[in-house]
Amino acid sequence: MEFTVKSGNPEKQRTACLVLGVYESRRLTPAAEQFDSACGGYLGNLLRRGDLEGKLGQSLLLFNVPEALCERVLLVGCGRERELDDRRFRQILNHTATALNDSGATEATVYLTDLAVKSRDLHWKLRQSVEAVEEALYRFDALKSKKDAPRRPLRRIILSVPHRRELAAAESMVREGIAMVSGVNFAKDLGNMPPNRCHPTWLAEQAQALAREFPTLQTQILEEVEMAQLGMNALLAVSQGSAQPAKLIRLDYRQGPSEQKPYVLVGKGVTFDSGGISLKPGEGMDEMKFDMCGAASVLGTLRACVELQLPLNVIGLIPAVENMPGSQATRPGDIVTSLSGQTIEILNTDAEGRLILCDALTYVERDEPAAVIDIATLTGACIVALGRHPHGLFSNHPPLTHALQTAAHASGDRVWEMPLWDDYQEALDSNFADMANVAGNRDGGAIIAACFLARFTKKFHWAHLDIAGTAWKTGKAKGATGRPVPLLTQYLLDRAAEQRREEA
Ligand code: BES
Ligand code: MN
Ligand code: ZN
Repeated sequence: MEFTVKSGNPEKQRTACLVLGVYESRRLTPAAEQFDSACGGYLGNLLRRGDLEGKLGQSLLLFNVPEALCERVLLVGCGRERELDDRRFRQILNHTATALNDSGATEATVYLTDLAVKSRDLHWKLRQSVEAVEEALYRFDALKSKKDAPRRPLRRIILSVPHRRELAAAESMVREGIAMVSGVNFAKDLGNMPPNRCHPTWLAEQAQALAREFPTLQTQILEEVEMAQLGMNALLAVSQGSAQPAKLIRLDYRQGPSEQKPYVLVGKGVTFDSGGISLKPGEGMDEMKFDMCGAASVLGTLRACVELQLPLNVIGLIPAVENMPGSQATRPGDIVTSLSGQTIEILNTDAEGRLILCDALTYVERDEPAAVIDIATLTGACIVALGRHPHGLFSNHPPLTHALQTAAHASGDRVWEMPLWDDYQEALDSNFADMANVAGNRDGGAIIAACFLARFTKKFHWAHLDIAGTAWKTGKAKGATGRPVPLLTQYLLDRAAEQRREEA
């Protein structure tokens, strides 16, 4: 989709489709009002007759509107004006995109940035418009033999901006939205790919392909022998039951000052999580192909960084493995020595995410990071605790927590903080090793998993995002969400802005 911005009166637009809002009950938005007075009150009459109430989700496509220069007018219901919040704004844009895509118009001029969204400005609305439209139109049909794309799909959206003087800033907001969407869609495509195709080697190839596309990105792939030499035995213990070799994928983006410490993103890349010898129950097991969505979000965020040309140093690190049972697989009771030197008794082979992450986290110590954020579909318990709306957020550094909360608010990609208190640590005591990889009961499972990781992150500022509930949707709309690419990209945009302020 192509997005542009434009200022000017709605009645003067020669466009295939003009999109105007209607609040409940039957009240035109300011832009719609302006258009209507130029067209002799046609819309007002229609509303008075009762053709459109203005409820959220309603829409009405009009042809041959008297005296109008546009070919069509799409009226979209916006619900009650004083209830208009972030979520409803996104729903309105979502409905708009779907209706436009079905309309036959290949281009549209959208006057919805004048909607009054609670405590949000024009720039937020522009960026969200881009993201919501792309969200509505995303399809994963790479593996369908017949694609059911519309005959004349929507190709171009022009977003209205109230004043000329806002155009330049609006353009840069739209550019940000486009870069984020590019990262989100990349992460969705990787996440949705089936596990017979998306294995660690394929994931490494995707990283290499990304680096070929963008010269500011470099990749390095560590093979199992190299990981064994380093002593990454926790990671290798997860992989050893699988015929697919593990890969440690590293991406380097170095566009910041050379003395600037890097921001490091570590993404869980379990391309399929069967549970291993601690085999999972069969129901819904297909969804464990999404257990690499943390990895996908790292690749997506790096793609957004590159497209935004952020003046930062960013490292992406992806431990990629497949967790399978088999005669070579790790047994419950096995004890391994992690890269950190700490020994781990693996009591449950299904708690594999923390095993690959702990070695990856120790490995990044040598890069002297400014901050490390790991992203992982780590625990079913996080879904029990928080449901499927926010990511679970854990951190050993309050300013980092705060920065992520700020980025979550700005991007609409929400987080909720969970505790990392030492009180939880003793649940991981083992009689035979430095620690067990699981606790003896299910209490606070998401916190226990984070506490396990905390034992490997003492040397740097660290945050952990448990995305088990947010990385994909289940049920009829099953599919990867591309989250938390918006959150992470916003966090890095904020770091770049902070740095510019410091230089000034
Ligand atoms: N990948 C799963 C977590 C998961 C489960 C995410 C369901 C989303 C939906 C993870 O590797 C896992 O299996 N965790 C176990 C941990 C337990 C053995 C302590 C879990 O959550 O059951
Ligand atoms: Mn598991
Ligand atoms: Zn897993």
